[in-house]
Amino acid sequence: MKQFLRLIATVCVAGLVCGFTAPKDDVEKRVEKLLAKMTLEEKIGQMNQLSYSREQPMVSAAKEGKVGSILNLVDPAVINRIQRAAVEESRLGIPVLFSRDVIHGFKTIFPIPLGLAASFDPAMVEAGARVAAEEATAAGIRWTFSPMLDIARDPRWGRVAEGSGEDPYLDSRMAEAMVRGYQTDNLADPTAMAACVKHFVGYGAAEGGRDYNSTNIPPTLMHNVYLPPFEAAVKAGAQTAMTSFNDNDGIPATGNRYMLRDVLRESWGFDGFVVTDWNSAGEMVVHGFAEDNKDAGRIALNAGVDMDMTTGAFINYIPELIEEGKVKMEDVDNAVRNILRVKFRLGLFENPYVEEGLTEKEFYAPDHLEIAKKSAEESVILLQNNNNVLPLKGVKRLVVAGPLADAPYDQLGTWIFDGDQKHTVTPLAALRDMYGKDVEIIYEPGVKYVRSNDTADIPAAVAATKSADAVVVFVGEEARLSGEAHSLANIDLLGAQSQLLAELKATGKPVVAVVMAGRPMTIGKDLANCDAMLYSFHPGTMGGPAIADLLFGKAVPSGKTPMSFLRVVGQVPLYYNHNMGGRPTNRPIRLLADLPVEQNQTSVGGTSNYLDVEHTPLFPFGYGLSYTTFEYSNIKLDKEVYGMNDVIRVEFDLANTGSYDATEVAQLYTRDLVGSVARPVRELKKFDRITLKAGETKHIVFEVPVSELAFYNSELVKAVEPGKFQLWVAGDSNSGKPLSFEVK
Ligand code: GLC
Repeated sequence: MKQFLRLIATVCVAGLVCGFTAPKDDVEKRVEKLLAKMTLEEKIGQMNQLSYSREQPMVSAAKEGKVGSILNLVDPAVINRIQRAAVEESRLGIPVLFSRDVIHGFKTIFPIPLGLAASFDPAMVEAGARVAAEEATAAGIRWTFSPMLDIARDPRWGRVAEGSGEDPYLDSRMAEAMVRGYQTDNLADPTAMAACVKHFVGYGAAEGGRDYNSTNIPPTLMHNVYLPPFEAAVKAGAQTAMTSFNDNDGIPATGNRYMLRDVLRESWGFDGFVVTDWNSAGEMVVHGFAEDNKDAGRIALNAGVDMDMTTGAFINYIPELIEEGKVKMEDVDNAVRNILRVKFRLGLFENPYVEEGLTEKEFYAPDHLEIAKKSAEESVILLQNNNNVLPLKGVKRLVVAGPLADAPYDQLGTWIFDGDQKHTVTPLAALRDMYGKDVEIIYEPGVKYVRSNDTADIPAAVAATKSADAVVVFVGEEARLSGEAHSLANIDLLGAQSQLLAELKATGKPVVAVVMAGRPMTIGKDLANCDAMLYSFHPGTMGGPAIADLLFGKAVPSGKTPMSFLRVVGQVPLYYNHNMGGRPTNRPIRLLADLPVEQNQTSVGGTSNYLDVEHTPLFPFGYGLSYTTFEYSNIKLDKEVYGMNDVIRVEFDLANTGSYDATEVAQLYTRDLVGSVARPVRELKKFDRITLKAGETKHIVFEVPVSELAFYNSELVKAVEPGKFQLWVAGDSNSGKPLSFEVK
């Protein structure tokens, strides 16, 4: 298959070089030439996206030039039949762009994006996105609705699963990696898939962590935290953007002219096209922002939307709106230009069809599965390892328990439309297959499924554990409890899972908990009922082999938390890059338990803390243990005072002071001590995965241009403000000692 595609690619590229190389201006010429021939109906047809229902209506729409893109069709034969109608039977032969939510793999499923972010490995994420694109384009998909870039500070929101967590710098690096992986540097390559940065913008700040709810992000926070990952993705060449469902400060994103025209187009120079989210144009009526779908079409087009996903607001009403002078022909033309530009860049006019007769073998190619396994290994976070029970040593009888030990569907995580659980390798299967020769594996789930309160099987798991050397318990969330429209007010382990852990802990045998989830759950109380905990955001097809090798030390955990872990859900929102506030709590506090019965008003001090729970996270952003230990030393800056055009050069030694070869994600944070707006207590500015043999020390240099200290100030002007700064190099957002420097 890939040879065939490579052949097509070669022919295309050769063609491009010989006959129709498509440099920028050539594409523009072709766009203008085609646009000039189009009728108003044909123009509006390009702005219309339909979700696949049945073949016939799609063939008719394609023949009549009434559809520019179709989503949710992945059958190459049907795609080709619809495409033939568009290319060979419509008046102008404009190909349809077929699209799909390929969020973390197409057939070979990778860890959910939050897990990919935990790897802090953009190169690995890019490789995974490339695999996803090769598989999806082989099915005829040339446009994915990914990467999702919504900054998330609230684990109650189900869609934290789909993004890269709470930090704009990490999110930006992941965004660039996915765009590169999907699109390559040659969009006309038949295995290239247009990326779509979503959900533009601010969707992750839904009030109450309830999906689709309003957001209220003020301008400086929007520009300093929520927009940067989108800008990074646009600069990396993302060809499309998707408007989000939320209204921010009362303005639905699909009608937000400032974001779509001033920021996306004017400031960032975005020249792809903007699609709405599913019926988000129509939902402006529900928001109370549009009178009806016709009005929604007016608002969306005037705001800068180019393509309408499933509302029908453009196809049904633009002719009238033009007649009534409520929208401009120029805006219709520009929308169509943007769409045609991407179609020309993708080489669709030269190469509109997809090869049929694919076999699953090609989809689950061994190298694809290997990348998926490596991604899963790197995405797992070691949160606790008391008495170094991990990696398992000298274990001859191992009990495997828990509702997610053998859950092939749930292990894949949310948004796996095309993943097939038949191909999932679960931890139970992997442990039996990879370690069963030397270790007796005894499977006693104890709890049948995640939400079950049935404890009848727990005694069997307890009894088996008593006669074993250790027990590994797979708990967490079903896939369907995370993702779109799946917000939770309580994010503790559900059902009888915590009881299972407690009863297994009571046996006195070593207990290893492996949590598979779509979000950081509040697992604080469960830490007391296990010796070690590995946290694996739904790890995908190869999660089993990855976890099996981590349990037995063939692989060493290197994942770091991409979101802060809460002690209790009442702490939300809690994130590392918060402002200092005027009364930070920076000393031990007395909690309810040890407060005297009678006390005066000010006896507990006046700082920003709770009386009943520690105000700090259970685990901070960037946190993760290893089987070895690392030591940072000799951290030095090359200067004490930097000019605006300087590069900050930080040198340090990193030593592997333990007995396992391992990888550390070294992180560099800065703090701007005084600004024209209060600045966060820390901001991630660089990270790198550094692999060290046991006992090895490496001398590392990190460089950060002073320009990267810029932020949007109170006038919304992006600038570096001179003054005093602090800088940390550490293994998480809460460690290390600050160095000081100044910018003049
Ligand atoms: C959904 C999601 C969006 C997805 C789109 C198409 O509602 O919000 O992320 O890409 O519809 O499936």
